[in-house]
Amino acid sequence: MTKSNSADAGDLSNPGRKEMLEGLNGDLAREYKAIIQYVVFSAALKGGEYYDIADQLKKHAAQELSHALEVARQIDYLGGNPTVTPKPAEFSTSSKKMLEIDLSGERETIRNYRDRIRQAEAAGEFALSEALRDIIAEEQDHEIDLKDALGLR
Ligand SMILES: [Fe+2]
Ligand SMILES: [Fe+2]
Repeated sequence: MTKSNSADAGDLSNPGRKEMLEGLNGDLAREYKAIIQYVVFSAALKGGEYYDIADQLKKHAAQELSHALEVARQIDYLGGNPTVTPKPAEFSTSSKKMLEIDLSGERETIRNYRDRIRQAEAAGEFALSEALRDIIAEEQDHEIDLKDALGLR
């Protein structure tokens, strides 16, 4: 998105920056996991009542890919090495359980991005925190879609 304001991008001697980079790699690994689950679940959901959400899950998959691209770019910019390893994807043969798996993933992702925004602001990385706020807004939309599909709202 935008360039970092920081004059010391790549300075890994700063312990806050190292922790933030480790956190961002966890976020990237969660994005990969979300992509895998949304690709598979959008194809595997069964039942007329899940027709609309199956379509929404395809859009989620594309948005998770754009999040992964942005987080990887930010990690590289900050002097880190973007991970190639996803968090282990989950699966169920139950359509309802698939949506519950996705919902708990979105909640965990949102909690983690909140932590990362705090770390980014503490490190003076305001361009990063803005990019993360854009991502978190989409994760919150995903959470709402899943809650609606599960009848939780
Ligand atoms: Fe995402
Ligand atoms: Fe998401």
